[in-house]
Amino acid sequence: MANNVSVLFTAEEIARRNRELASELASSMTENLLIVALLRGSFMFAADLIRELSLLDFHPEIDFMTVSSYGNGSKSSGSVKIDKDIKAEVKGRDILIIDDILESGRTLSFSRKLMEERGASSVKIAVLLEKPGKRVIEINADFTGFKVPDQFVVGYGLDHANRYRELPFIGILGSE
Ligand code: IMP
Ligand code: MG
Repeated sequence: MANNVSVLFTAEEIARRNRELASELASSMTENLLIVALLRGSFMFAADLIRELSLLDFHPEIDFMTVSSYGNGSKSSGSVKIDKDIKAEVKGRDILIIDDILESGRTLSFSRKLMEERGASSVKIAVLLEKPGKRVIEINADFTGFKVPDQFVVGYGLDHANRYRELPFIGILGSE
């Protein structure tokens, strides 16, 4: 099933990086923190990162939001919409948005703006992956796991048409 995926980062490499990210994050965590994990792509990353934070004795409030750009393939279109909103109150909170990958920047700039419009005190962004040179909107993550080449990656939550999310590693999707 996954023999057309070539490994880019192993499960062990991801686990090591998550531990490092958690200690970077720890210095900017506040009591007031609300983590907003963007579904579905960030579900594994968020789960592992949050567990690392817990080992460092941070216990943030956690909520989930599903946003999507129209379409279901490898290419994302221009508009982002909320499929499922968070329940948590944002006003006055320090927000950490967690997502799988920063590519055009549309998803994260939409999400950040939404939190700002709802009155967040601060908004930071943590992404597992970043594709440099692909930005359509000027936006940077405050915490980044790995930079990846400009190829379609899957695994560890990232999908192609909802497949491959289950892979414990991150790889480049080849042709079938
Ligand atoms: P952006 O809005 O273009 O920055 O892209 C954000 C979303 O596109 C991510 O949350 C992913 O769901 C998806 N995406 C972008 N590049 C990839 C990829 O290489 N593999 C899987 N999903 C991707
Ligand atoms: Mg996604």
